[in-house]
Amino acid sequence: MSEFEDVGAVVDLPDGEMLGVELTTRQPVCVYNVGGTIGAVGNLCTHALFHLSEGVLHGDGTIECIWHGARFDCRTGAAKRHPAEWPVPVYDVRVVNGRILVGPEVAVEETRS
Ligand code: FES
Repeated sequence: MSEFEDVGAVVDLPDGEMLGVELTTRQPVCVYNVGGTIGAVGNLCTHALFHLSEGVLHGDGTIECIWHGARFDCRTGAAKRHPAEWPVPVYDVRVVNGRILVGPEVAVEETRS
């Protein structure tokens, strides 16, 4: 579990919310709760590096960057709407004793729209 970093309590991340966190071992991460499922993607939009955690988490599981409107699938990291063309990384997430732990980047099948 040493590759996992504690980023906060589940109760502080209600459904529909996102949280930007700085970790010691990787790029900034955006932790989200969509429909009770907690996950994490890279927090830097691949269009022009705006923080996705400051955008909008839609009910369909896409994160909208509020700078120029790009969207990413939070489960796969895939860019779903221009101007972004490249995916954001997806990270392994575990919930242990009510705490959110973010781990290494995971490989996903669909990474580009
Ligand atoms: S920086 Fe995100 S859409 Fe441009």
